[in-house]
Formats: sequence, C-alpha cells, structure tokens
Amino acid sequence: MAAVERTLSIIKPDAVSKGATGAILSRFEDAGLSILALKKIRLSEEQARGFYAVHKERPFYSDLVEFMSSGAVVVSVLEGPDAVSRHRDLLGPTNSNEAPKGTIRGDFGTDIERNAGHGSDAPETARIEIAYFFNATEILAPVAALPA
Ligand code: CMP
Repeated sequence: MAAVERTLSIIKPDAVSKGATGAILSRFEDAGLSILALKKIRLSEEQARGFYAVHKERPFYSDLVEFMSSGAVVVSVLEGPDAVSRHRDLLGPTNSNEAPKGTIRGDFGTDIERNAGHGSDAPETARIEIAYFFNATEILAPVAALPA
C-alpha cells in the first residue's frame, strides 16, 4: 500500500505571473493530494539562496536565485499517497522544453530555469523544505467532516 507522505510544492514566479496558480493547485487536488498549508510570498535573494544552497556550486545558481526572487511564488504543503513522486509526476521533467503537454512544466514552463514548479525529491528533503517555509501550527490536516 502506498505510504502517506508530505511534500513541498513551489509554484514559481513564471507560472504565478501568468495566472496559472489556480489551475496548478487544481491539478494537485484532482490527483488526490490535499493542500495542508498554502501561502503566496516573494522570496528575498537570501531566502532563495538558502533554499537552493545545495546547488551553490552549480553554474546556474546565481541565475536561479535571481529568477526565484523576481516575483511572487506560491508555496504549499501537499499530503497524500506517495505524495513526493505523485507531485513530481504532475510536474514532469525538470526541463520544460522536454516536458510533455499535460504536465505542469510542459503546459506552463518555458525552459530548464523557468520551469513553473519545484517539488521535493524525497520525504527527508520534504521535511527540511517544509520547515523552511512553514511552522507546525500553519500545517492543517484536511477536515474530513464538519460537526453538524
Ligand atoms: P527545481 O526543481 O526547482 O530544482 C533546482 C532548479 O534548478 C531546477 O528546478 C531548475 O529550475 C534549475 N536547474 C537545474 N538544472 C539547471 C541548468 N542546467 N540550468 C539552469 N537551471 C537549472
């Protein structure tokens, strides 16, 4: 049986600025992922540098930091069966030029940098990435039923 996992999603500035936030969030829910936490923020360069610190030696790092702090992003915590891989399947391949239509990166991204979305690559990474943006009190379980 699939394990229930949590993952961090970032809808990147390219997708937010083209008005794709609602369409992308719908794809998550339609795929059985519950949104436990959600906020729209603008990352400072320092926040973007910290989030992508694992890539700091890569040649694309400074461009990536500049892009990620260039406009609003929508960050969320998603939960569901196999949430990490399910979310990454919805995103599609990293390079939007190679991502098929029907995937988020294929439909809303442009290239490898402006690729519409980020998703954690493993449950352990997800824990670190979720804590980067959200306090425990901001993460709410889906309400199965409201009291009468
Ligand atoms: P993301 O899933 O946010 O994780 C790291 C990001 O770095 C990745 O999506 C891409 O947007 C970006 N990235 C990865 N490889 C390259 C590359 N070769 N050139 C430019 N950007 C890259």
